[in-house]
Amino acid sequence: MTKTLLLLPGDGIGPEVTAVARRVAGRLINQGLDLAVEEAPFGGASIDAHGVPLTEDTLARALASDAVLMGAVGGPQWARQSYDTRPEAGLLGLRAGMNVYANLRPARCFAALAEASTLKRVFVEGLDILFVRELTGGVYFGSPRGVETLPDGQRRGVNTHVYTTSEIQRVARIAFDLARTRKGEVVSAEKGNVMEAGLMWREEVQALRDAEYPDIKLSHMLADNMAMQLVKYPKQFDVILTDNLFGDILSDEAAMLTGSLGMLPSAAIGDAGKPGLYEPIHGSAPDIAGRGVANPCASVLSLAMALRYSLGAPALADKVEAAVEAALNSGARTPDLGGTLTTAAMGDAILAGL
Ligand code: IPM
Ligand code: MG
Repeated sequence: MTKTLLLLPGDGIGPEVTAVARRVAGRLINQGLDLAVEEAPFGGASIDAHGVPLTEDTLARALASDAVLMGAVGGPQWARQSYDTRPEAGLLGLRAGMNVYANLRPARCFAALAEASTLKRVFVEGLDILFVRELTGGVYFGSPRGVETLPDGQRRGVNTHVYTTSEIQRVARIAFDLARTRKGEVVSAEKGNVMEAGLMWREEVQALRDAEYPDIKLSHMLADNMAMQLVKYPKQFDVILTDNLFGDILSDEAAMLTGSLGMLPSAAIGDAGKPGLYEPIHGSAPDIAGRGVANPCASVLSLAMALRYSLGAPALADKVEAAVEAALNSGARTPDLGGTLTTAAMGDAILAGL
C-alpha cells in the first residue's frame, strides 16, 4: 500500500532544506519506493495564512499520514505574540496531538567533520550517542502554568514539572528497546537530589529495568553532572534517557560536539503503528533564511529516520545516510561546515550518491 509522507516546511530555512529532502524522496520514488508526498502549512507560515500555527486540517492530515517531515518553525516577526499563538506552540501542539512522546536525537560525528567540532578530534571521532528525550510531558506541558500579578503588584510566573508512572515507563521502554539494538547501555538523567519528581523518575526507570530489561546496563546521572561529562568525555555515553526539559538542553549540547547543528536529524515516535514526526534539530535560522545557503543534511537525514522508523524502508534509510556521508567525504560543504556550496548544490552532491 502507498505510504504517505506529509511535509511541513514551516518558516525560515525550513522550506529551503525541506525542498532538498523532497528531491531525495522523489529520487527514491523514481527508483520504486511506493510513497506519496504531500505538503501542508505550519508554524508562522500558517499564522500568516490561517491565523493559527497549527490548523485542525494540518493536524488531521498529519494523523492520517505515515510520517511527517517538519522543516523549522519560528522567526522574529512572530516573537511578540502570546505563547499560545506563536509558531512554537504549533510544534508543541503537533507533538502532543500526534502523541509522539519519545524524541530520538542521534549525536553522531561524521569522520569527515571531526575537525569541525570545538572539542579535540580524539574526543569526538566516532562519537555515536542516541538521546531519547521525553517529548509530550514535563515542564513544557504541565499545569498550572502562566504569569499572574499579585496584590502587591509583583508578577508571579509558574510552570509545572509533572510526570506519571506510565509517561515515564513508555519513553523508558523505547530507550531500553533501542539500547538492545546498540550496546545495551542506558544512562538516565534527572535532578533527584533536589526534585521529588526527579527521584521518582529515577525509581520508575530503575523498576522497569529490573522487571523487564535485566539485560540492560542502566545507570543514573544528575543532569548537571551530565552536562559536564558530555564535554569531558562524551564517548562514555551510548543511549541517554531524559525528561523533556533536560533533553532539550543536553541534546543541543551533544549536537554541537559533532561539529554542526546543521547536521543532526531527529525522530519523534509514539506507540507502534502510529505516524512519527521527523525534524532537523536546527531551528529556522532567520539570519540566513532566503539566501539558499542552509545545510540540508539534517533534513535529508530526518527523511532517512522516517524511512527507518515509519515508512518500513530501513535499507533505503541506510542508503540515504550513506549518500550524505559520501557527499561529505567527497568534500561537499555548505558554509556552516566551512564550505561554499549552496543548499541546492549540497542537494546535488547528496543525490549523486543515490
Ligand atoms: C527543540 C526546540 C523546541 C523545543 C522548540 C522550538 C519548541 O528547542 O525541538 O529542541 O523546545 O522542544
Ligand atoms: Mg531545543
